[in-house]
Parts: sequence; C-alpha cells; structure tokens
Amino acid sequence: IKRITTHVLQKMKHDGERISMLTAYDFSMAKIFDDANIDILLVGDSASNVMAGHETTLPITLDQMIYHAASVVRAIKRSFVVVDLPFGSYQGNSKEALNSTIRIMKETGAHGIKIEGGEEIIESVKRIISAGVPVMGHLGLTPQSIYKFGTYAVRATEEAEAQKLLNDAKLLQDAGAFAIVLEKIPAQLAKKVAEALEIPVIGIGAGKYVDGQVLVMHDMLGINKEFKPRFLRRYLNLYDQILDATKQYITDVKGRDFPNDNEQY
Ligand code: KIV
Ligand code: NA
Repeated sequence: IKRITTHVLQKMKHDGERISMLTAYDFSMAKIFDDANIDILLVGDSASNVMAGHETTLPITLDQMIYHAASVVRAIKRSFVVVDLPFGSYQGNSKEALNSTIRIMKETGAHGIKIEGGEEIIESVKRIISAGVPVMGHLGLTPQSIYKFGTYAVRATEEAEAQKLLNDAKLLQDAGAFAIVLEKIPAQLAKKVAEALEIPVIGIGAGKYVDGQVLVMHDMLGINKEFKPRFLRRYLNLYDQILDATKQYITDVKGRDFPNDNEQY
C-alpha cells in the first residue's frame, strides 16, 4: 500500500484528482475508512459535538483530542491523519501552539495538525512548520469562533470578508501550509481560492470547484437525524437502521428468542 503524504496530496491537486476526506474519532470506524482508501482522515474537534454531545466545539480538551487521535492512528495503514488543535490549545502564542502540536505528534503518531484562522495565527503556523509538522489551514466558517459570528450561516458573502479570506489563504500558503479547508462559503469564492493557490483546497459546503471534499462521518452516514444542511449528502440512514436493529434486539430479548439453542454454550 502506498501511504498518502503531503507530496501525494500535492500531486493529486496538480493532476486534477479530487481528494477524499472524512472525520474519524475511533479505531473501528477509522479502520473501515482506511480500508475503503480514504485519502485523509481528520480527527476533528467536531468530536466535541458528535462524540461528547456538546453544543459547540469549544469544550473539547487537548487530552481528549489526543485520545481520539491515538485510537484513529492505530487503525490506519494508508490514510494521512490530521488532528485539529482544539480551542484553547494555541491562541495564547506560537509557543503554546507548538507545544500542543508536539504533544499531538508524540502521543498519537498522527501526520499533521489543522488550525483555524488566517493572519491571526500565522506566526504559530510558521513555528509549527519550522518544527517539521505539516499544517492544514481552516477558513470560512470556523466553529471555534461561533460566538463571534453569532450563527452557523454561510460566511464571506460580503466583499470585505471574501477579500480577507482570499488574503488569509495566500498567507497560509506562503507560511507553508500543505492544504486548506474552506467551510460553508459561496462556491464561486472557493473556486477563486482553489485557482489562486498551488496547495490543495478542501471544501465542506464550499461547492464543487475545490480540490477535495470533507464531511463529518456522522453526517455522511446519516447518524445525525436532525442535521440537514444543503451541502450534506447522506450515503446511509444509519440512525433509522440502528434504531430498527436495536428495537429488534429488545424484542428478541423480551420474547426469549435471543439467545437460541445455537447461541449458547
Ligand atoms: O472538526 C471538524 O469536523 C472539521 C471539519 C468540518 C472540517 O473541522
Ligand atoms: Na474542526
């Protein structure tokens, strides 16, 4: 198996091959995604929402991210594993950002980190890359800033914010980022960014003109029944399937159907 590296991802952009990316938070799911040949697995701080049940991504800790990331890394043979720097683990200064990154790299075996923001965090990006760690940027709707935005609505619909986003993307590339995630912005703006940059641009709710796509696994698999943004395509309705299976199990236990003669010692 050929391992995915930042160089492979760069070549995919160059060759026009779209990059596939999903989130993963645990061993068993990561193993399936890796066996399916997903290019990038993101240990997202969306774990705060989908794994821990928090309303936002703010509460998850660096220790908790490390637990998830180490579990994912144990499962993979091919995918490139990126870990989110969680809220509060990098905003202080570039030394704090580097220290958090070093903990992730040493304690999980992941291949790179993702960090939200542009100009504000550019010194941290440079310092992390100087230490030899690949950095993925994240612009547009950055959930760690949700209380600044006030809503999860589409970002950068106004010219000023669009200009800042394009500028931030270039700053991240110049600082040495190997890729950038664009979340929930107009497709035409995402297209402009993808065309302006040499590095891969991966979208979530950023349209079809970017170099790759990422979805949260629970959304892609239909485990989240309520979450139905326009950008989401569901490939399974696992909520309903798991609900039905669970009801059947309960029925079988109550009805003394399970276990039967062949299912006991
Ligand atoms: O945490 C996450 O799942 C993410 C993706 C939505 C890009 O950052
Ligand atoms: Na995230």
